[in-house]
Amino acid sequence: MRYYSLEGGRPLSGEIVVQGAKNSVLPILAASILSGETCRIQHCPRLSDVDTTVEILRHLGCRVRWEGDALLVDASCVTRWDIPDSLMRRMRSSVIFLGAILSRCGQAEISYPGGCELGPRPIDLHLAALRALGADVRERGGSISCSGGNMQGTEIVLSLPSVGATENAILAACGAKGTTVISNAAREPEICDLQEFLCAMGADVRGAGSSTVVVEGRRVLHGCDHRVIADRIVAATYLAAAAGVGGHICLQQVTPGHLSTVTTALMQAGCRIHCSGDEISLESSGKLRSVAPVRTSPYPGFPTDAQAVLMAALCRSRGTTVFVENMFENRYRHVSELRRMGADVRPEGRVAVVCGVEQLHGAQVNATDLRGGAALVVAGLQAQGTTRIGDIHHIRRGYADIVGDLTQLGAAIRDDT
Ligand code: EPZ
Repeated sequence: MRYYSLEGGRPLSGEIVVQGAKNSVLPILAASILSGETCRIQHCPRLSDVDTTVEILRHLGCRVRWEGDALLVDASCVTRWDIPDSLMRRMRSSVIFLGAILSRCGQAEISYPGGCELGPRPIDLHLAALRALGADVRERGGSISCSGGNMQGTEIVLSLPSVGATENAILAACGAKGTTVISNAAREPEICDLQEFLCAMGADVRGAGSSTVVVEGRRVLHGCDHRVIADRIVAATYLAAAAGVGGHICLQQVTPGHLSTVTTALMQAGCRIHCSGDEISLESSGKLRSVAPVRTSPYPGFPTDAQAVLMAALCRSRGTTVFVENMFENRYRHVSELRRMGADVRPEGRVAVVCGVEQLHGAQVNATDLRGGAALVVAGLQAQGTTRIGDIHHIRRGYADIVGDLTQLGAAIRDDT
């Protein structure tokens, strides 16, 4: 098994450019099949989820190749409209292909993505949006068959601002005749990035970033060139890492406004943070204070994906911090691993209470999911002695080079194969 090994206690310093956003590039790659030409997607992070997405694109008939940090997708000959179960199981978020395949091919066949480490991941809102557009959606056992060659623009009201359902609705609406209005849409920056990509292809999508997105469908879409936004959760992870162990770092090519709830919490904890243009710098003594209750919520609230890494940064803080995880049922799986390192965290349903301890100690731990694994890295950087993290495949789904990035910032971390 592959491990990350960390020697804790070394403050971080220096600067790094933050990778492109996983949760932006995945829907954008799905959207690239709407064009009959080649799209160049720059600042694409090398992640296992991106590798899986490339396999899906190639399965559908696209020609895909890397050129430096750009992925070139030639979707001129999409010949299939199904995603094999093996690929669906490898990446739950492959459900975001549904709307794009339906738009391009008039039909789509996927298997039900099923649950994941964070708990059940229903897709009822995705399917309701497709049905509202007039698609015929049949669920049989573990598979979903959609036909929608004659989708009509309509009003879609999402009962909750689901990121994936908003993306699927936008992509399906691109293939519908007339105007579609999506209300209670998710407002995440990744939705704005998807809108920018679609408009660069010639689509007419407006309102992303607000709760109402409007799509004029059936445009002929062409190839385009697009640079993916920075990954705000990777940025939050590195800020949390420096906050927890101490030091002075500068993140470059980021959008500070995309993680303002995280930087606000870190300032409350005693960090000095300065944002200017596309840079965020953070200074920390490594001895943090507890902060006001952290309640995760849809953007622009505190991001659920940053909950675990902030928790890890606060494990040695003075005082007690309460976390309330409102987005997923099972997003405290990293707590048991943090406790093996001496953390005093008590989960109770959606609440977890973090009581700061004097010291964390190195231990053998295992990543439980993507962001839970990143939290163990944040804790290992603080711990006395050596921490070995197993099951790092979870981490590699979302971090292109967490070892290289943190090494560049002075951490003693290596990838033990
Ligand atoms: C996206 O997942 C992100 N993934 C997640 O990031 C992120 O945690 C989540 O949004 C929330 O911000 C990608 O973008 C690839 P949702 P998604 O639909 O779209 C419920 C990471 O670590 N729901 O906004 O699946 C759902 O159960 C990952 O990078 C329904 O009930 O999230 C959840 O409780 C983890 N029915 C809530 O909505 C539906 O049809 C929010 O889910 C869809 C969702």
